This record gives sequence, C-alpha cells and structure tokens, in this order.
Amino acid sequence: MQSPSVHSINGLSPGCVISSLASKNTAATPCRDECQFETIMTTLITGGTGKTGSALARLLHATDHPVLIATRRGAAPEPFKAVTFDWHNPSTFENPFKTDPSIDRVFLVAPDDMEPLAHMKPFIDLAVSKGVKRFVLITATQVDKGGPIYGKVHQYLADIGVDYTVLRPTWFIENFGSYSQGIIENDEITSVTKDGRIPFIGVEDIAKAAFDALVAEKSPNTDYYVIGPELWSYNEVAAALTEILGRKITHRSLTDEEQIAFYQSIGLPKEYAVLLNASEARVAEGVEEAIVGNPKAIVGKVKLRDYLEANKDLWKKA
Ligand SMILES: NC(=O)c1ccc[n+]([C@@H]2O[C@H](COP(=O)([O-])OP(=O)(O)OC[C@H]3O[C@@H](n4cnc5c(N)ncnc54)[C@H](OP(=O)(O)O)[C@@H]3O)[C@@H](O)[C@H]2O)c1
Repeated sequence: MQSPSVHSINGLSPGCVISSLASKNTAATPCRDECQFETIMTTLITGGTGKTGSALARLLHATDHPVLIATRRGAAPEPFKAVTFDWHNPSTFENPFKTDPSIDRVFLVAPDDMEPLAHMKPFIDLAVSKGVKRFVLITATQVDKGGPIYGKVHQYLADIGVDYTVLRPTWFIENFGSYSQGIIENDEITSVTKDGRIPFIGVEDIAKAAFDALVAEKSPNTDYYVIGPELWSYNEVAAALTEILGRKITHRSLTDEEQIAFYQSIGLPKEYAVLLNASEARVAEGVEEAIVGNPKAIVGKVKLRDYLEANKDLWKKA
C-alpha cells in the first residue's frame, strides 16, 4: 500500500513494534536495535471509518499492529474489526474495552460540535482507567492548546499526564473531493481566502504522522503542524482544474455572511460555522503560509496536483 513518507517524529521505522506490558495479542517483529522483540497492543481508532482514521487503520494493519475501529454504525470494511461507539452516547464508551481489553492507545477524532471536551473527557478518563497509555488527537493548524473547541481537548491531554501527540493539519487536499458540488454544478470554487495560500495536506500524510506518533518508542508529548509540500491559492487550484478538466473553473470570493450560510446549509451549527469562516478568512492574511518552515511542522509528500489528476472523474459533469 502507499506509505508516503513524512518527516518521522522520532526516526523509528514504520515496522518497529512498540513496547508494552500486555500479554494478549503477542506478536513480534524484528526492528531496529532499540526495540527488538516486543508485545503488540491494540490501537482504538475513533473516526476510523473517516478519511484520516481509515488511512491510519490501513497503515497499522499493514505493519501487523492490531486495530479496533470505533464507529456509530458498529461496522467497518474488511479486514477491520469494529465496535459501536458514539461520542454523544456515553453508554457506548465501555464497548471498545469489552471487545478488546488490550487497547493501550487511542487515536482521537473529535465530534463536530462546539464543546467536544464535554463528550470526550469522560471517555478519555475511562480509557486511562482501562490502561490506555497514549493518545493521538487531530485538531487543526489554527487551534492552539487551551483555545476554543478542540483546543480544550488538547489542553486536557497535556494536563492529565498521559503520553499524547496533537496533530494540527492544515486544509485537506481531499476537501476538493468531499465538497465537489460547486465545481461540478457551477464550475467554481468559493472561499473567503482571497489570494491567501495554503500548504494543502493529503490524508495519507496525516495518517503517517499519526502512525509515527502512535508507534514511537517515546511519545513526543507535544503538538505538530501537519502541512503539505506546496503552497496553493484557490485561484491557482482553479487554474490547475481548468487545465485538468478541460473546462473553465474559477475561484469566486464570498463574503463572510455567504460563507457562514454555506456552512450552515451543510449542517454545521451557526457558532461552528462562524469559527470555521474566521479561520478561513485568516488564510487571506497569510496565517497558513507562515507555517511553512516552522520547526514544528511535519511536511507531507502528497501533492495537490497529483490528487486532482488522479481523481478528475470526481468533478465530471453528470
Ligand atoms: N477537512 C479539513 O480540511 C480539516 C482540516 C483540519 C482538521 N480537520 C479535522 O480532522 C479530523 C479528521 O477528519 P476526517 O476528514 O478524516 O474525518 P471524516 O472523514 O469526516 O470522518 C469523520 C469520522 O468521525 C466519525 N464520527 C462522526 N461523528 C461521530 C460521533 N458522534 N461519534 C463517533 N464517531 C463519529 C465518523 O464515523 P461514523 O460515521 O462511522 O460514526 C467518521 O469516521 C476531524 O476532526 C476534522 O475536523 C479537518
């Protein structure tokens, strides 16, 4: 499978097996001298049916690390084992540990609401009481520790003394596929970013960064930006799509009000839509571009143009 390389968090090779105290699921993989033969525990992947979580599940599976996927439907594609889990239903929180008592690390994808910590804190506490030693959380470039929404979850992990890594990706390359309607129907991309540029990141690269943080012998216990290798404005993406699709695609600037209304139209709560719009507006001020070269930035390999070319059928007119 594709295993795009990013700057490895600790330089360990992906096949290296993590150290643990458990005796169940024992498996051994020869790796670098410092970790030789160790016992493998299970990683619980919340959001494991989503873009990043499923890419992480494939990476862990390919290197013989047991995985359990948490999902509201309780089902995941072969070969993965899944468990019913809903952040908004605490009666499901015990399910993963009943299904697999060997879970010792958890990948956290927060629910889309304004107070994720209210839902996540009881689960994180339960997980620690069940023997979980390490968490990897996804937030976003503009979400600082202690800041609103996911920033509070970041702060909580840092406060309780567990091993943790917070990954702060910029805008996903795959958003162009997830939100393809405007390109298909109106031949346009809309945003409030003006000429601001974004180091768009591929989910395979975020998954690789999460993989590194989960299997590293020593947990980083800090946060990292996760960015792609190139900066693109939406004007430049529209020009690339024009070439690739053979029809004119434009980037149309929206007002803040229009963008907020769009986010609400796809089901986001107003307060959340306002915050999302504000982070997008900061792109116009150069905030995302300024992350390039930051020593705390993990830089992926997936290139936006390669994704657009490989997936051009996504934007075909019906
Ligand atoms: N897109 C971007 O540009 C961007 C940028 C920075 C950060 N992020 C963040 O990156 C993270 C990962 O994004 P992604 O695109 O990989 O996710 P995604 O593809 O949208 O998948 C979301 C996952 O969350 C699960 N989920 C949703 N509500 C849930 C609930 N109430 N309880 C349990 N599970 C629930 C879904 O599982 P089921 O439906 O199977 O339950 C699904 O597996 C998100 O936190 C996102 O906000 C995104």
